Amino acid sequence: MDGFTHRAGQLYCEEVPLTLLAERYGTPLYVYSRSALLNRLKELQEAFAPASPLICYSVKANSNLSILRLLGKAGAGFDIVSGGELFRALNAGADPSKIVFAGVGKSPREIAAAIRAGIRMFNAESEAELQAADAAAKALHCRATVALRINPDVDARTHAKTTTGRKDNKFGIALPHAREIFARHGRYPNLDITGIHLHLGSPIYTVEPYRKALEKMRSFVAEVRGTGAQLRTINMGGGYCISYEGQKVIAPRDYARAILPAVRQMGLGLIIEPGRFIVGNSALLLGRVTYVKEGWLGRKFVILDAGMNDLMRPALYGSYHQIWPVRGPAAPILGGRARKGARLETVDIVGPICETTDCFARERRIPRMRAGELVALFSTGAYGMSMSSSYNSRPRAAEVLVSGGRARVIRKRETYDDLTRGE
Ligand code: LLP
Repeated sequence: MDGFTHRAGQLYCEEVPLTLLAERYGTPLYVYSRSALLNRLKELQEAFAPASPLICYSVKANSNLSILRLLGKAGAGFDIVSGGELFRALNAGADPSKIVFAGVGKSPREIAAAIRAGIRMFNAESEAELQAADAAAKALHCRATVALRINPDVDARTHAKTTTGRKDNKFGIALPHAREIFARHGRYPNLDITGIHLHLGSPIYTVEPYRKALEKMRSFVAEVRGTGAQLRTINMGGGYCISYEGQKVIAPRDYARAILPAVRQMGLGLIIEPGRFIVGNSALLLGRVTYVKEGWLGRKFVILDAGMNDLMRPALYGSYHQIWPVRGPAAPILGGRARKGARLETVDIVGPICETTDCFARERRIPRMRAGELVALFSTGAYGMSMSSSYNSRPRAAEVLVSGGRARVIRKRETYDDLTRGE
């Protein structure tokens, strides 16, 4: 979390105290560090440099236009999964030749829009989709480049709801079927099927799943080449982990060490699709305590003005996010340790939404918090704002991007009028 520091008893994003941001822009507020975003992208670029990869930032992790523009200017391409993400990427000035399009249910309309835009490649997930892409390319009198997303049946050992590469997942084409498709590659006259795509899950905390999948791909690639198919690229997807608790986790260079030798041996160009690694720890969600109340048997609830509509991960996956007051001792994730004698207490940290699952943390030890105090929900840059909603008719939060001593609103707080627009 190098964009965030603790100084003189309070939390800063780069050179700006979070108290100031809360005063100026209100809460709940997503706060992003520009330097952290760029540093994370650079770390990946450097780790994978020997393969000169195309790094396609996964737009679903955070699709704010300013963030896309920033990453695009720093050399990133984009991994998209819908016509809406295509629209966003193009709007942010993306080079279409650096866009790859994944997803199990791309509609013919979305496929046609992407062909028209001149994207680099589709990651196709079924025979039916290949037919749709072939038809769309024919109608537009052009060719489309395709990678087959393969389901390698490798367990990424991540959360059951975010694993994607196992036999029972909806994603990808089963290996034997992919073999057949490559063997009769001439069947789609308007497609160049020249790539392999894998995405095993997210987040993945060891390199083993990547290794295992590549092991399977090595023999597969040899077989496919034997049938005369022209293979040029392998896309290893995303899944690169971040530390949510402050614990040490593996780094891009560790993934690169596991991935690059096999890719080199296969003689393929490399694409990767990192999302979480770039944005996850480059942001936090800033909230304020509305009330503190005691329940049965002395159970204490700290009630925030942020809810599961702003940050859905704990409610949906039971995910851990560190939550800590903005003023006082430094948060453990920033290397702080509550001072001896600092009063920690055990509380449930909840939002205002009328659902029991609107709970960010159960029985969490944090410094004593009072109504009105500011609180940081760390590691929320990825799948935070992008999965937010206006459930309970709560306008969505604002987002600010901090660069040095300056902060800029990159998405306005929604208003009540925004809530009813279109109804
Ligand atoms: N490529 C493909 C094809 C994907 O499906 C995904 C994520 C990525 C790349 C980027 O994965 P990343 O590098 O961010 O791990 N909402 C969940 C995560 C869902 C991930 C979906 N696919 C969460 O909040 O943990």
